[in-house]
Amino acid sequence: MSLLEVEGLNSYYGDSHILFDVGMRVEENEVVALLGRNGAGKSTTLKSLMGVVRPRSGSVRLGGVEMVGRKSHAVARAGMQLVHEERRIFGSLNVEENLVLAGLTAPDRWPLERVYEMFPRLKERRTSRGTDLSGGEQQMLAIGRALIRAPRIVLLDEPFEGLAPVIVHDLVQACRTLADAGQTIVLVEQNLAATLALADRVYIINNGHIAHESTAAELRAQPEILHRYLGV
Ligand SMILES: Nc1ncnc2c1ncn2[C@@H]1O[C@H](COP(=O)(O)OP(=O)(O)O)[C@@H](O)[C@H]1O
Ligand SMILES: [Mg+2]
Repeated sequence: MSLLEVEGLNSYYGDSHILFDVGMRVEENEVVALLGRNGAGKSTTLKSLMGVVRPRSGSVRLGGVEMVGRKSHAVARAGMQLVHEERRIFGSLNVEENLVLAGLTAPDRWPLERVYEMFPRLKERRTSRGTDLSGGEQQMLAIGRALIRAPRIVLLDEPFEGLAPVIVHDLVQACRTLADAGQTIVLVEQNLAATLALADRVYIINNGHIAHESTAAELRAQPEILHRYLGV
């Protein structure tokens, strides 16, 4: 049994059919990337896993337990955490308050110090308000808020987007450290180099259909697939 087993997911916004029989699996300790063009359905997939979008059919099993039909906070309590594209930190609270608040309702949690070890910059900025953080610091805080809840699996939606290369480098390093410590990660990204450097396996989604599945190493050796589905 894989940690996460997704089968036959169909999701809609109103009458618009967005995801078509999406399936994927994620093993414990794996980093799995979901790649695809803008609008392909990557964020909708992550939201469907979390129950933020309710799939009309299909199955999402976490540790063998069905998540479809549960509310997103229940899915979160079961051990899946989504870091949204738009980060969603509390601007009026400081860094430490954001972290503590995120941990409050978790059945299990990391000590604050472990988050600060992962992101030393957050420790330096612990008393700064969310609104005073740089984009990179906000992203670290958004990831830190997910990690403090000791998730079995963390879903990252474009964590490197819009950030300066030097910040992306730091975040990739942090993700590498996390992965090496055994954290299971699903990564949605446009940054192909960073993604292929981190991921063990890759799915490509195209117009709401899973179009390709392979190891990251196999994908790197198939430029025609990168070209066809990602236009690179
Ligand atoms: N809240 C929404 N209401 C209606 N359509 C949406 C909504 N969110 C996304 N879509 C549409 O669903 C499709 C997939 O979007 P999304 O999953 O956000 O793609 P990606 O994350 O791969 O860029 C796109 O055509 C997008 O316009
Ligand atoms: Mg998206």
